[in-house]
Amino acid sequence: MSIKGFNSKAVHAGDLYIPEIGNVTTPIFEDSTYKYPNSSETIITDNTSKSTFLYSRWGNPTVQSFENKYKSLEKTNHAVAFSSGMGAITATVLSIMKSGDRMLAINVLYGQTYYFFARTLKSYGIDVDMISVDDMNKLKIQRNDYKIIYIESIPNPLMDVLDIKKIGKYCREKNIILIVDATFASPFNQTPVDFGADIIIHSGTKYIGGHSDILIGVIGCNNDGYYNSIVDMRKTLGATPDAFQAYLAYRGLKTLGLRMERHNLNGMKIAEFLESSKKIQEVFYPGLKSGKYYEIAEDNLKGFGGMISFKLKGGIEESHKFIKNLEIPMPAVSLGGVESLITIPAETTHSEMTEEEREKSGITDNLIRLSVGIEDSEDLINDLMQALDKI
Ligand SMILES: Cc1ncc(COP(=O)(O)O)c(C=O)c1O
Repeated sequence: MSIKGFNSKAVHAGDLYIPEIGNVTTPIFEDSTYKYPNSSETIITDNTSKSTFLYSRWGNPTVQSFENKYKSLEKTNHAVAFSSGMGAITATVLSIMKSGDRMLAINVLYGQTYYFFARTLKSYGIDVDMISVDDMNKLKIQRNDYKIIYIESIPNPLMDVLDIKKIGKYCREKNIILIVDATFASPFNQTPVDFGADIIIHSGTKYIGGHSDILIGVIGCNNDGYYNSIVDMRKTLGATPDAFQAYLAYRGLKTLGLRMERHNLNGMKIAEFLESSKKIQEVFYPGLKSGKYYEIAEDNLKGFGGMISFKLKGGIEESHKFIKNLEIPMPAVSLGGVESLITIPAETTHSEMTEEEREKSGITDNLIRLSVGIEDSEDLINDLMQALDKI
């Protein structure tokens, strides 16, 4: 069988078939440990040890099936799954950085990642410099001693877009490890390994899981050395996902392509609708031709996704009223699920910043972030329209 297309791989790659059973989907192995030594003649090996499965903090057949399916979509040689996106981020960075090392990151990062870089790593003697997305895109990089460059492909909440093609080329020339958190793009809209990224990270809690019912993280990479170090760090930190969690992520991957096509379509339609509304001051969506990052987005993304931010004409009161009057999107912070979710970043995802810091970063009280689900776009637009009419 020739499996090449994204959806064919999403459905079939990595599945764990046991001929004696004749199962058609990967079973859930809720085993903490496995028979050892195992003298069976037909052994399925643990990728992490190249030997029989031994203990589920090392490796688990269901988790491995998810990893194998994910890596076929991410186009990497290796994958390692974690108990959350933060588990993936912390284990990956800690597996590479040692006390005295220095790394560079963009200054708009997922809040907990920002905390990890600015507080935790600093307390371990690891220096993290931060620059703006625009400076990173222009390669305004002042020093030559960075071990890692860490970026998010579409940072939250203003949906800027990183020029991974350009940054990847720079990292290859300078021998810097490029780590990309591509959560907002998903492996359907972007495979950063094609642009020279060394390690790709996802909060699988979002588009990969796709149903707002799990926490999971995953990384993909080609380099054997990084893979082995990351596996060792997962083992040490104990940030391994549970088999059931991994099964739901494995199942989520099967429909990732179909869901992303719909997220991309709905995202575009809703961004265009919002842009045309007199009640809206500004819309941030990578796919809008009027947007600052449109050309970079065109060059780096196969689709623009379902994440949109916009500023209402008004302040916090109007924002609250608008959200309260919506019937479909639920007010909640996560993203990437089949259901639309909406939030005011100043009150939730970015509430730990001071008002001054938020103002400087453009995260005003009237900024609203919408994770567009897979509902019918006509229903979503009608709902947005009636709620806008009431403010
Ligand atoms: C871009 C990004 N990276 C990482 C994370 C952390 O993922 P998790 O919540 O699965 O730990 C999040 C969570 O929202 C995120 O948005």
